[in-house]
Amino acid sequence: MTEGRNNNGGIGADAEALISIKGVSKNFKKNGRDITVVNDCNLDIGENEFLVIVGPTGSGKSTLLKMIAGFEAPTTGELRVGGEIIKGPGADRGMSFQEYALLPWRTVLKNVELGLEFKGGKNEAENRELAMKYIDMVGLSYAVNKYPAELSGGMKRRASLAMILVTKPKILLMDGPFNALDSKTKMTLHTEISRIWEHEHNTIIFVTSELDEAVKLSDRIAVMNKAGRVSKIFKNSLPRPRMGRAVLETDFHNRFIKLREEVLNEVKAGAGLAACEY
Ligand SMILES: Nc1ncnc2c1ncn2[C@@H]1O[C@H](COP(=O)(O)OP(=O)(O)O)[C@@H](O)[C@H]1O
Ligand SMILES: [Mg+2]
Repeated sequence: MTEGRNNNGGIGADAEALISIKGVSKNFKKNGRDITVVNDCNLDIGENEFLVIVGPTGSGKSTLLKMIAGFEAPTTGELRVGGEIIKGPGADRGMSFQEYALLPWRTVLKNVELGLEFKGGKNEAENRELAMKYIDMVGLSYAVNKYPAELSGGMKRRASLAMILVTKPKILLMDGPFNALDSKTKMTLHTEISRIWEHEHNTIIFVTSELDEAVKLSDRIAVMNKAGRVSKIFKNSLPRPRMGRAVLETDFHNRFIKLREEVLNEVKAGAGLAACEY
């Protein structure tokens, strides 16, 4: 078993790369000089894979995600989806930001329908039915007619999640989607996102600073360091589901802790921090 020892980021012989990132760097100008934020990143992400990216603040996680989304262009290297070079945003990729993207003057239902209105094509009744299906999937059926101001943080996250899911993106890009939520809401959303991922077979790239979350959700964990490099990729072969009774098994628990520890050590090494600082 090479779990946690895999340093090359291979997605395994049986998996085709859906997303391919080759020699990608990104520079920004800061105080008149160039800084390298993402540094020679090489990463293949397979179809239906759940990849989690962790790393200290400023390690380029969000920038990498924005390049995959097509919001930022790389300075060098290339990013491809399904073999095609990424030239800008596309309907195949849905991005969920840490901030909510809900329009305050529209209800939950109207917000979720918005994604479909942009896409065009379907009629009103079909759009409503589809919107309701995804609102139900994120557990918000009881709040369809509420306005964003009437929602808790967790409910807003659910609504924004439904807004993206309803457009059925093949690839879901999530930047700290559950940050700063209380642990109970977070646990529920972990269960829901895992269920949705299994049901919809999308590919998820999920950025977080929480290692428990990373181990709970991922197929692989990519660690980025202060230099903007992917320093290591851990394969996570913990059995699923990773919630409920399974977690109580001693073997599961031990493997969970072990992987978390290995990832933590890698993050710390890449951040130059003492143990208590992460
Ligand atoms: N548009 C931009 N212009 C200039 N600097 C940027 C821009 N976007 C990000 N940066 C800088 O790039 C670095 C990495 O940012 P980011 O990708 O957000 O890291 P992370 O998500 O890992 O915290 C930070 O130092 C940030 O200030
Ligand atoms: Mg970020």
